[in-house]
Amino acid sequence: MHEPSSNIQSVLQENRLFPPFANWCSTAAVPNHDAYEELCAEANRDYEGFWARLARENLDWYQPFTQTLDESEAPFYKWFADGKLNASYNCLDRHVKAGNGNKVAIRFESDAGVVTILTYNDLLRRVSKTANALKSLGMVKGDRAIIYMPMSIEGICMMQACARLGVIHSVVFGGFSSKALNDRIVDIGAKLVITADEQTRGGKNLPLKSTVDEALTMGGCEAVEHVLVNRRTGGYDKMQEGRDVWLEPLVEKQLAKCEPTWVEAEHPLFVLYTSGSTGSPKGVQHSTGGYLMWATQTMKWTFDLRPNDVFWCTADIGWITGHTYITYGPLSAGATQIVFEGIPTYPDSGRFWKMIDDHGCTIFHTAPTAIRSLIKASEMDDKVHPKNYNLSTLRILGSVGEPINPEAWMWYYKNVGGSRCPILDTFWQTETGGNMIAPMPAAIALTPGSCTLPLPGIQAAIVDEAGHDVENGQGGLLVIKRPWPSMIRTVWNNPERYKSGYFPEELGGKYYLAGDGAVRHVDTSYFQIMGRIDDVLNVSGHRLGTMEIESACVSHPLVAEAAVVGKPDSVTGEAICVFIVLKRETPVGEEAKQIANEIRDWVRKEVGPIARPKEIRFGDNLPKTRSGKIMRRLLRSLAKGEEITSDISTLENPGILEQLKQSL
Ligand code: WT7
Repeated sequence: MHEPSSNIQSVLQENRLFPPFANWCSTAAVPNHDAYEELCAEANRDYEGFWARLARENLDWYQPFTQTLDESEAPFYKWFADGKLNASYNCLDRHVKAGNGNKVAIRFESDAGVVTILTYNDLLRRVSKTANALKSLGMVKGDRAIIYMPMSIEGICMMQACARLGVIHSVVFGGFSSKALNDRIVDIGAKLVITADEQTRGGKNLPLKSTVDEALTMGGCEAVEHVLVNRRTGGYDKMQEGRDVWLEPLVEKQLAKCEPTWVEAEHPLFVLYTSGSTGSPKGVQHSTGGYLMWATQTMKWTFDLRPNDVFWCTADIGWITGHTYITYGPLSAGATQIVFEGIPTYPDSGRFWKMIDDHGCTIFHTAPTAIRSLIKASEMDDKVHPKNYNLSTLRILGSVGEPINPEAWMWYYKNVGGSRCPILDTFWQTETGGNMIAPMPAAIALTPGSCTLPLPGIQAAIVDEAGHDVENGQGGLLVIKRPWPSMIRTVWNNPERYKSGYFPEELGGKYYLAGDGAVRHVDTSYFQIMGRIDDVLNVSGHRLGTMEIESACVSHPLVAEAAVVGKPDSVTGEAICVFIVLKRETPVGEEAKQIANEIRDWVRKEVGPIARPKEIRFGDNLPKTRSGKIMRRLLRSLAKGEEITSDISTLENPGILEQLKQSL
């Protein structure tokens, strides 16, 4: 473990407080700080009773549960285990039954700006037909389906259709390569792969189906029986006889009614792969009951969702944010939401603001990277500045996925929120299922750049490497001291990795280790996330393991050795910087540029465009200890352009530092 990259001092100097003041505060789900304290006290008094109450209030159960938490096989915790339910029923049927079938569920806007509106009635029909289509291909409870689709109504319907049948879905982000896709198909043992011919982003068509075709030739995919293909652009129509099936005609001929398959609360709803510090990406397994409860509850607590809100989370369904705050949370909570296929910079960087204006968005949730790039864009072109749009419908703004720097926070607050809207900096992870540390908008005063306090029931704390609590103002490891319903259940195919990675013995084996460094403010006790303590990078809110990028680099025929570190970046938060030793003499000048570009494209093809290194530097060697361990701490300093002042007495080859410094 190493020191988190950001500087503890600078963020702790932030003392500005913005108390809740909006005129809707008094009618909020949690209307003031006392109400927040009361919920926390309830959880402390009767932990299981608290969670049982929320599970009963937030979900419709087919068979009620009698046991709340089962710790007998800790850390493999079970929640609400003898209860039965269906996630899709909770997201759709129950709203229709309650008389809300004509409420708008989704306002979909395509990349080109075409809007499609679906009510809960419409969505239930489409999901039922889609589920029947999956059934006709032999998919049953417990089977696994890979979903490699664009941001689309079809993608959301597909996830919901899987949930309706108890089929475990694993969504793979459309920006991942055939190799990454193959890894996931093999690990999950998929029986079905669902994709589209192509995806459209920023006016360009990009491949999907051809990537699936390639992934399926890479071996280990014997379990795959069919590939189901949504026709999105018409730009690719190579189909393999017997294996590939077009989605639309198959769905068209199905009945619009499909009984949900009732599953145990612990039945896996989905597995989502994410990067760890070592080895291959890990399949984070989530439950049906606990996960859906928290997805629903946080819509009400964090976002203060109300019947007339128009909610918009700009994430992609390929990430956990898209699962929890597009596919499951908003629908389970009965919200009207905007779903967007495209990118924030097309046709120009005013797209988000125009869409808020056009759709009357009231709750807008996006990532710091997007905000930072739109700040830059509006500085360069006044026409795309938010002031040119009517954003008066907004009442709440969200931020997710990475630290938001106070400057970006203030810009977002003033220029998008008109100094009227609280900004919710939500800290959580793929593994936590939903928000963990985040301000409730009517209850918690805000500090720019801080995710503030844990949601009620979440026992977040900061400890040292022996698991002892540290004082406010002192940095340490972020842990969650007690299990909570929406937590990761296991790493698919690798329970040992779950146990040792998230519940390390050094901390007593009982605390969930988040993998982030954090510190609490001396006066407010607010949490400040300092960044990953393992070798995981956060590039534009996307989580990438340094190992994955390094293995991609060394698989290039010219590369002997590679070490990847993160480097601060004003737009993407962190940027990828790679130090490389070639199998031939170290290149300089034009040649170095050319080889660097070749390696960049190689990584892009191996992992995906999100992993394309920003900076590549060549050296005759890497800084190593006498035992041959790469000293990444020194590489991080070199990448940042810092003077190396720390101890280099264990460095075997000090001369290398000068060469690497010059290599830029
Ligand atoms: C990692 C988790 C949150 C869901 C989407 C990303 C970083 C996340 C924040 C925040 C500072 C944050 C952490 C975390 N992170 N939210 N509000 N402030 N850092 O999920 O891909 O699993 O990544 O993202 O480092 O561990 P993920």
